[in-house]
Amino acid sequence: MCGIVGYTGPRNSVQPIIEGLSRLEYRGYDSAGICLKLGGKLEILKKEGKLDNLRGLLAQTNPTSQVGIGHTRWATHGAVNNDNAHPHGNEEYAVVHNGIIENASVLKKELQAEGWVFKSQTDSEVFLVLLTKFAKTEGSTLKAIARAFNTIHGNSAFVIMEKATDQLYCVKRSAPMVCGINLTNREVFFSSDPFALVGFAPDIFFPQDSVIGRGTITETKAQIEFFELDLTPSTRFRGQANAISIDATTKGHYEHFMLKEIHEQPALMEKLAAWAIKGQGQSVYNGLKGKEPSFFHITACGTAWHAGLVIKNFFEKFNRIRCNVEIASEFRYREPNLKKDEVGLFISQSGETADTLACQELCHEKGLKTFSVVNTEGSTLFRQCDENFLIHAGMEIGVASTKAFTQQVLTGYLMSMGYAGKLMSVDVYQEIKVLSDRVAAICEDAQTIKAIAEKLYQKKGFIFTGRGVYFPIALEGALKLKEIAYVHAEGYAAGELKHGPIALIDDNMVNIALLGPELFDKALSNVEEVKARRGLIFAIGPKGHSELKAVSDMVYELDFNGLPNLATIMVNVVLQLLSYHIALLKGTDIDKPRNLAKSVTVE
Ligand code: F6R
Repeated sequence: MCGIVGYTGPRNSVQPIIEGLSRLEYRGYDSAGICLKLGGKLEILKKEGKLDNLRGLLAQTNPTSQVGIGHTRWATHGAVNNDNAHPHGNEEYAVVHNGIIENASVLKKELQAEGWVFKSQTDSEVFLVLLTKFAKTEGSTLKAIARAFNTIHGNSAFVIMEKATDQLYCVKRSAPMVCGINLTNREVFFSSDPFALVGFAPDIFFPQDSVIGRGTITETKAQIEFFELDLTPSTRFRGQANAISIDATTKGHYEHFMLKEIHEQPALMEKLAAWAIKGQGQSVYNGLKGKEPSFFHITACGTAWHAGLVIKNFFEKFNRIRCNVEIASEFRYREPNLKKDEVGLFISQSGETADTLACQELCHEKGLKTFSVVNTEGSTLFRQCDENFLIHAGMEIGVASTKAFTQQVLTGYLMSMGYAGKLMSVDVYQEIKVLSDRVAAICEDAQTIKAIAEKLYQKKGFIFTGRGVYFPIALEGALKLKEIAYVHAEGYAAGELKHGPIALIDDNMVNIALLGPELFDKALSNVEEVKARRGLIFAIGPKGHSELKAVSDMVYELDFNGLPNLATIMVNVVLQLLSYHIALLKGTDIDKPRNLAKSVTVE
């Protein structure tokens, strides 16, 4: 979704702002803009489309400004065009905004009635106008920001620059904001994502909701001050060193971040297992023993929801904990039956997904304990939950989630083993090691998967099927394919086919059939049903089954031995690579698929 980068300091702000925004491109956007101070005036350059369009505008004049704010916009209120792109500005102020102002239309009407003129259809401009209006009466930018912020409803983050000084301001509610400082270079940065600040700001601060940050540069130092909305100094912020590695900012020798991230999986699994079973995570996981909740309400979106569906099987099988796994945007509006001795479990890579956050809030309000399975330490979800289980996937840049899914499922398994008191058994570590080796071998075998992709990529549609634990993998495989290759793909429980979807089968429809040793015969009969209707079958299943080979057009054989609980992850990696190669053949923008955003901070 939208990205923010602000800079004040001694160098030309254009370079760190554009570099920061380019790092945030992975989040998805449809226009980009920058506000600079040129000749003492606030000048805005903004352009619909990719960041390169803005780079083109900048190249015409090569402006220099020691303060600036930049933004990549993912449209919510108002069409994708130059006027609606951020920053929004006037003589006195310029603002960039992430989130939604829920009462914008009411406020806009009131302001228009007072004679204020708007240049865009965005909700964001309402904040600019409020700020400008209040600055006239309050006589101070800080006071005006506080008043404007108190007037708006909804979750938002703003960075503000002003004509009067080279200071930068930020404020936010339930939306990400990070302030960075480089004391040696006398520089201050504000951003929606610490990733934008890697290599620029060694020290970062996360202000809490309704805290105003102000960055100031003097002849001798850079400083960031924090204020409450009543303008008293605030201590409601958390400081830390920026822990993201600079390596995360590059693709290395891979053509895409998605491919790099698929290949990272074997090492990440082993790292997580070593941390949880033999390292510092031990106390967290071992501490679960004997503390099973009566019920887990698992909520998440998209790929994270699929991970939840896999995790449910662990909790029910090994811990006999009852679970409901639900899409967050449904759960939050359903008035679910929640009891105090139950636990809300929220799965999220970003920790900023609006619907998932709303579910956490709902469970918290009803008195449930809340746990997260999350990648981003310090994210809103991480901060709001009572307990966090970090998946340790590192930065995930590809919009299509791959390594986060794997680490989420693995984290759920480790939790389940923790509850069962089996974490330290040799089998758990050993199985993850076997999994890691098998996944590494699949990654090495990309040529085989590429050859299959070549046979399939022009087909009309894809039906992914699986039974039991492979059903969520069928859903995940279909999601990955549709989101990056833009082809129609559906995931079904294999036994459901004959209840409707089988009508779709013809010789242009591909059935990607997932089979494990469990329920093999049942799943095989489902494949036969498809074959009888001339469907094209690509099966992924256990090796050495001649019947499967006979009925399928293509088979990718896997060794399921030694993987009684985690084979789903192995099967899913084959699907990740298949989607990747189909998308590559179709020539789509794999790391930044159309219409998608990496972290969905609006509902
Ligand atoms: C699909 C994908 C999305 C996310 C979903 C939740 O590849 O990435 O479906 O899984 O938007 O995002 P997080 O995990 O950040 O809450």
